[in-house]
Amino acid sequence: MIKTYIRASWAALVIVLALRSCLAAGSHAAKLEGKAEDGASGLARRSLAAPLAPQDDTLYDCQLLGVTGLLFNITVPTTGFSLRNVTFRNCAAGALALSAPDSSPASASLTSLTFLANSNNATTSYGGALTLSGPLSATLVDCTFAANSAAIGSAVYSTAGAATGEGGLTLQRCTFAGNRGQGAVAVLGGVLLAVRDSVFANNSGGSAVYLSRTRDQGAATVLYNVTFDGNVADGTGLSADPASQLGNSGGALYAVGALAALNVTSCSFTRNR
Ligand SMILES: *[C@@H]1O[C@H](CO)[C@@H](O)[C@H](O)[C@H]1NC(C)=O
Ligand SMILES: *[C@@H]1O[C@H](CO)[C@@H](O)[C@H](O)[C@H]1NC(C)=O
Ligand SMILES: *[C@@H]1O[C@H](CO)[C@@H](O)[C@H](O)[C@H]1NC(C)=O
Ligand SMILES: *[C@@H]1O[C@H](CO)[C@@H](O)[C@H](O)[C@H]1NC(C)=O
Ligand SMILES: *[C@@H]1O[C@H](CO)[C@@H](O)[C@H](O)[C@H]1NC(C)=O
Ligand SMILES: *[C@@H]1O[C@H](CO)[C@@H](O)[C@H](O)[C@H]1NC(C)=O
Repeated sequence: MIKTYIRASWAALVIVLALRSCLAAGSHAAKLEGKAEDGASGLARRSLAAPLAPQDDTLYDCQLLGVTGLLFNITVPTTGFSLRNVTFRNCAAGALALSAPDSSPASASLTSLTFLANSNNATTSYGGALTLSGPLSATLVDCTFAANSAAIGSAVYSTAGAATGEGGLTLQRCTFAGNRGQGAVAVLGGVLLAVRDSVFANNSGGSAVYLSRTRDQGAATVLYNVTFDGNVADGTGLSADPASQLGNSGGALYAVGALAALNVTSCSFTRNR
């Protein structure tokens, strides 16, 4: 009974960070903490006892937490959002979604995050681990995404910057390995500013990087010093359209539609098919 309450409330939670201190100070956070002590493991207890947004230096395992929905769905306030040294594991409907509300551009600084074995496996599902949207500038540094899966965007699904061209995604020193779906990184309609000093290896089920109708901010999307190795587009076509080439074209990179210009410099492409 008690557990059901905690699980349901986590699964349904939409977190507005602007309200965070208010919520954390209120009885709701205290209630979560108290109830979580009933038989939960140390890990689950630590996580459930946290305020209603992810905390630095923490491991979140959705299986241990009993969370079946998206773990964190955060509306980023104009003051921004940052997170460091966090692992998200075993979430079955995505781990983290960050969005900036229309007409409220915001930024997110994500450092040393690891996403392992998260998924969003329905055939129409987008974003196995991390989803970004709205006028959001998201910068991921030193990240690892391994063994995540989704139909589109097995690791990262971003439409950030799609509506207004404000914001966009930057990846630096990131590794994407063994993710499965169309696009370990999928940017649809949004802005991909740059991918630097990163590795895409052994991803399958589609293209390692999937770009569709991307926008720009007056400069080309930069792929610099990125290694693409052993990525395989062995998916089966993920759209209802039988002519769809999604999932079976462009093992390393698949870019379609009227795109932002691409500047691919000092990258290596090996064993992709
Ligand atoms: C990162 O977080 C883990 C807990 O998940 C902690 O044990 C470790 O010390 C942290 N690392 C750093 C550099 O703070
Ligand atoms: C996350 O929150 C946004 C904004 O409130 C909402 O539109 C979206 O449906 C939510 N996603 C999920 C999976 O609940
Ligand atoms: C989603 O699919 C992947 C790849 O087929 C699999 O490894 C993973 O266990 C599935 N996740 C769930 C929750 O079924
Ligand atoms: C290129 O990226 C790799 C990581 O994939 C890094 O180890 C290396 O130092 C980078 N090279 C340069 C010239 O920055
Ligand atoms: C990719 O797979 C190859 C061959 O199995 C392996 O040698 C390599 O370490 C893998 N790369 C990553 C980053 O996991
Ligand atoms: C492409 O990117 C490289 C590395 O960031 C930069 O040195 C170069 O000037 C860019 N080229 C163009 C045509 O924008």
